[in-house]
Amino acid sequence: MHFFQHKEGRLYCEEVPVEDIAYQVGTPFYLYSYRTLVRHFRAFDGAFSKFPHLICYSAKANSNLAVLKTFINLGGGVDVVSGGELFRALRAGADPSKIVYSGVGKREDEINYALQEGILMFNVESYQEFHLINGIASKLDTKAPISLRINPDIDPHTHPYVATGIRQAKFGIYMDQALEWYREAKQLPHLTIKGISCHIGSQLTEVGPFVEALRRVKELALKLAQEGIEIEYIDLGGGLGITYHQEEPPHPREYAQAIIAEGRDLPCTYIFEPGRVIVGNAGILVTRVLYTKEGEKNFVVVDAAMNDLVRPTLYGAYQQIVSVREKEGDEMVADMVGPICESGDFLARDRLMPRFEPGDLVAVMSAGAYGFSMSSNYNSRPRVAEVLVKDGDFYLIRQRESYEDLIRGERIPTFLEG
Ligand code: LLP
Repeated sequence: MHFFQHKEGRLYCEEVPVEDIAYQVGTPFYLYSYRTLVRHFRAFDGAFSKFPHLICYSAKANSNLAVLKTFINLGGGVDVVSGGELFRALRAGADPSKIVYSGVGKREDEINYALQEGILMFNVESYQEFHLINGIASKLDTKAPISLRINPDIDPHTHPYVATGIRQAKFGIYMDQALEWYREAKQLPHLTIKGISCHIGSQLTEVGPFVEALRRVKELALKLAQEGIEIEYIDLGGGLGITYHQEEPPHPREYAQAIIAEGRDLPCTYIFEPGRVIVGNAGILVTRVLYTKEGEKNFVVVDAAMNDLVRPTLYGAYQQIVSVREKEGDEMVADMVGPICESGDFLARDRLMPRFEPGDLVAVMSAGAYGFSMSSNYNSRPRVAEVLVKDGDFYLIRQRESYEDLIRGERIPTFLEG
């Protein structure tokens, strides 16, 4: 449940009319509802209230400092996958002892940075990586906390680009290698084994695959215990899906019940890395209609494009299109497209939508996750503003980029000057 609703024909974010924000900030912009962010975080966290756990919000879904800070204030930790995300998390005030660091390609400088900051643990994804971490920890004369990220080989029934726990995926290490590598890691003097982690995919709409993954992780934990390797944390990653269209994903309560039922006999602290389920429906992208073209095929050209929201282009993802001011009258089937010079630049395809006219404001719903965070400057389009609403006020949490921002850091070498 979110707080974007029409009242008397106008779309509101909490108590603020979206039109008023568009008038002051210009378009396009991302708009987030603070009340929704808090509600979703609490729904997830509260579902595990009687179970030892830590929520490490997955920064990649939406890494704006204000969004990170919202969850940090609620007691959350952060799941990061790069030095940049670690920097953001720390800047937002995250407690380093609540930061987990995942990712298949951590660089030496990034590992060094995270070790010096004293993070909770590295979710290690390869044999070479844990040896490298051991070496870096040795130079710093410390011990690095690690878990091995397991690839449990489970089909999560989601888009192939975001299925991460299947054997063909680049992520994690195979179950059959894990035991051996844990033994080896245990011998390394600068590693401390903290846990086991896994993340099987994103936008999952069933609990079954999560439970199956936990079952496999548990089997491994038992084998490790027999060898005297005690596990303090089980990190189950993120992945719980949301409703974009007609999906019926489990409520966090159902997800938690299933996990608790399976995990209760393995006493340790459970880490979760939710991203989309918390921020996805807490944000929208607001754009303005520039032109309409009617003919054999109808097009509504808006001022937001694939560089602002790439999900429809990249995954064929469905994002609901809503008119900010409710429109009476007939509808039409059209593509909603952006100004970018690619035919793949669309926000909606062959969609029944109101008969939009130039100047109309449009809300692209469910855009809080993997929206701004995946945006780019393609076609030299400045990245859009981000706005957070709380009750009756709104706050600019990222200003729109300027043309100067576009060329920041670029240089023309002297040999090119006349
Ligand atoms: N933990 C790890 C290790 C991950 O790789 C991810 C997402 C998450 C947690 C958070 O997953 P979530 O709860 O948000 O499903 N750009 C795609 C989604 C990519 C997900 C990548 N990993 C999209 O827009 O659908």
